[in-house]
Amino acid sequence: MKTFVSYLSDYAQKNNISLSLISVIETIVEACIEISNQVRLGDLSGILGEAGTGNIQGEQQKKLDVLANHILIEQLSNNKKVAGIASEEEDNFVCLNSEQEYLVLFDPLDGSSNIDVNISIGTIFSILRKSGEKLEEKHFLQAGKEQVAAGYVLYGPQSILVLSFGQEVLMFTLNDKQDFIPNTQVVSIPNQTQEFAINMSNQRYWEPPMQQYIHGLLQGKEGERQKDYNMRWVASMVAEVHRILIRGGIFLYPKDSRETTQNGKLRLLYEANPMSFIVQAAGGKASSLASDILDIKPQKLHQRIPVVLGASEEVDFVEQLHMN
Ligand code: AHG
Ligand code: MN
Ligand code: MN
Repeated sequence: MKTFVSYLSDYAQKNNISLSLISVIETIVEACIEISNQVRLGDLSGILGEAGTGNIQGEQQKKLDVLANHILIEQLSNNKKVAGIASEEEDNFVCLNSEQEYLVLFDPLDGSSNIDVNISIGTIFSILRKSGEKLEEKHFLQAGKEQVAAGYVLYGPQSILVLSFGQEVLMFTLNDKQDFIPNTQVVSIPNQTQEFAINMSNQRYWEPPMQQYIHGLLQGKEGERQKDYNMRWVASMVAEVHRILIRGGIFLYPKDSRETTQNGKLRLLYEANPMSFIVQAAGGKASSLASDILDIKPQKLHQRIPVVLGASEEVDFVEQLHMN
């Protein structure tokens, strides 16, 4: 038996997790292994470049956005426990087994601008429970704290699966036998940090408190924060969150005055919620600067939200600046 499957079934038994939920996760992971294999081949499998289509959010789709979405939907259609799915790349939710118990929400390919330049990308997923009635959009619109599991697969130098049921964060590395093997490290985000991630090119569009916050970081030792900060921006949320889980930090995608980002850029259901669930399980914090992300009741499937997550004391500091 594969190590991942037996590890997960032991984990489920010890932690009282339903076997149907485990089967849904196994299906998602199967799909991600297929996506990982396509990513590894790159130009050799013809997956680079534009698809020539757009999604409902007005974004141009890459071939891999479309392919990853297709692979996930196809695999999940074969799992009888999945009532339906919602995807960043689908206009509406897709009904699979209407009266079943689980909903899977995903960003099939995160960090699309990195595909063609061979920089880390990923798949993000979120799982919600649903009651036995006929599936409707309202079933997907649950606050992030209702998630029963969330995770991502990072397609980087290694393919890494990160998974949480809310209490702790599990990490696995894909081996050459297409099996995810548990990593040895304990995942925990330190409360403080000296590393931040934000797209600085949007600076002139930010609101004054965000300007003030980043200005303070850039002043380093000479400023009021009295320490130097390092900066990173991969433009893949999966890669940024992974770095924060491994060595700490803070990630910010605030709202700004551009027409398309007045409510932020990242999607609440496919990006902010699953990543906040993972970050919180690792001892970090996630805020929209108006409230904790996991407390927000979604209004619609493709809703966007400002995101600030990572080291809890640093997130608190940014929140405080926005309260004054
Ligand atoms: P996606 O590829 O799914 O559209 O998501 C990209 C997101 C996120 O991963 C990243 O943090 C951010 O967009 C990068 O945005 P900029 O290009 O504006 O920096
Ligand atoms: Mn994304
Ligand atoms: Mn995407």
